[in-house]
Amino acid sequence: MKVVWITGASSGLGAEIAKQALEKGYTVVSLARSYNQDWSSANKSIQVYFDLTKPNEWNSIITRLCQENLSPDVLINNAGSGLFKNGWELSDVEVEQMLAVNVTGLIQFSNRISQLMIKKQAGHIIQVGSQAGKLATAKASVYAATKHAVIGYSNGLRLELMPHRVSVSVVNPGPIKTPFLATADPSGNYEKAIGRWLLNPENVAKKVILLMEKPKREINVPWWMNLATKAHSLSPNLFERLAYSFLAKK
Ligand SMILES: NC(=O)c1ccc[n+]([C@@H]2O[C@H](COP(=O)([O-])OP(=O)(O)OC[C@H]3O[C@@H](n4cnc5c(N)ncnc54)[C@H](OP(=O)(O)O)[C@@H]3O)[C@@H](O)[C@H]2O)c1
Repeated sequence: MKVVWITGASSGLGAEIAKQALEKGYTVVSLARSYNQDWSSANKSIQVYFDLTKPNEWNSIITRLCQENLSPDVLINNAGSGLFKNGWELSDVEVEQMLAVNVTGLIQFSNRISQLMIKKQAGHIIQVGSQAGKLATAKASVYAATKHAVIGYSNGLRLELMPHRVSVSVVNPGPIKTPFLATADPSGNYEKAIGRWLLNPENVAKKVILLMEKPKREINVPWWMNLATKAHSLSPNLFERLAYSFLAKK
């Protein structure tokens, strides 16, 4: 059965994907900072200390996992962070932190794992993007920039890896009920305002598991949220005027 590596599997969506993948019989390597550096590969769930912003620490982790026959068949780049503030309200450190995890870390780690998959001429990289990567909203300009970067990078990487039989998919969820929201907006106002549209992490994880079994270039969850992106691309000025109250819910 396949080996799946999941970044940011210690919480929220990543934890739910890990749980469902294990139930399906996959071997799951969960990667996050909350785990111990002293991990064991004794069972099908391996939890490894990992910081996506520290590429200098990755070599020993990757080498040991591969030596223990845990080279990834599927990589799910799920780790991410966000702060919902107007761009000018973010400190330079907050901007750098979002970029470091969501963009630089994701790109560097995907590149590193691509090399392993190219050697095997097989593999699947799944990036967890966001609807914010399709359509930017107020108080999420920087977060949206990071997720637009994920989609742009992944669209290019897909073409680069195509001759090597490695698939690249992007999952773009709308708002999900996970600890992410309390960090992004500690006031809780956004979560309250969009309460009825909040996705449940179990359902989003189910879609990711299906995607792992049948790779597609991109999925949007729920599918209808992508209609807003399509309407925006047809007439951005009109859309932004008509949908302003929806686009400024944060
Ligand atoms: N929740 C939403 O509304 C929503 C909507 C669309 C897309 N997303 C995306 O979905 C993904 C998962 O988010 P979530 O909602 O499940 O959030 P979450 O519950 O806050 O989980 C975030 C995960 O990322 C990990 N992480 C953060 N910084 C890391 C680092 N430097 N190195 C390694 N791991 C790191 C955290 O683990 P440690 O702290 O243990 O390292 C944690 O496991 C993110 O990419 C997010 O942008 C979320």
